[in-house]
Amino acid sequence: MSQTASLLTSPPVLPLVAPSILSADFANLGAECQEAFDGGADFLHLDVMDGHFVPNLTMGPALCQSLRNQFPDAYLDVHLMVQKPMEYIEDFAKAGGNLFTGHIEADCNPKELADAIHTAGMDAGLAINPPTDVEAILPWVESFDLILVMSVNPGFSGQAFIPEVLSKVETIKPLLRENQRLQMDGGVSLTTCEACKNAGCDTLVAASAIFKTDDYASAITGLREG
Ligand code: DX5
Ligand code: ZN
Repeated sequence: MSQTASLLTSPPVLPLVAPSILSADFANLGAECQEAFDGGADFLHLDVMDGHFVPNLTMGPALCQSLRNQFPDAYLDVHLMVQKPMEYIEDFAKAGGNLFTGHIEADCNPKELADAIHTAGMDAGLAINPPTDVEAILPWVESFDLILVMSVNPGFSGQAFIPEVLSKVETIKPLLRENQRLQMDGGVSLTTCEACKNAGCDTLVAASAIFKTDDYASAITGLREG
């Protein structure tokens, strides 16, 4: 396992597969993540929820720091499902986050968000929820390193994939530079990953399709090659 902070812009093999630890066994998190890396995971996706932007509470900078300590070279992708993402940039930068993704629906100016994330030394991501029109994100795409198209309404793992969001991927993809990534998150599985990749996604997040199986390596290979 050898991940670096330049992973997004110099990806070894596309698509990148990012297990979301939301479906891992938190009591065995280090071993769970090691198994995911041994099985070919490119990086880890951390779902941060504040109980306001979404109706759930999950993890914060302390957990990010623990993963950084355990996996010094890992690329850590922090997905902020919070109302005020600007307030958490410094904390996650200090805790070893590499990619900080906020939402277009949150309380912030997207350009200021991208600039603040970059100033803190992280890659910047911008996410869009299923009900939000793709037009809302288009003016901001060039400022970010990664665009995340949510394929479930955020808050919980294990939800069904919403196929209507694939058209957003098709709209965004032609606007991207070679070094920008397009990520799908929510309901990504062996049955939905092909449609994601065909639409233009190069980065797949999956929680239940990896951590709710008995064989993480097979699941990760299946998502990458399926
Ligand atoms: C949803 C989170 C996702 C979630 C994905 O709110 O942003 O990252 O963990 O879970 P699955 O892959 O099970 O849909
Ligand atoms: Zn996520």
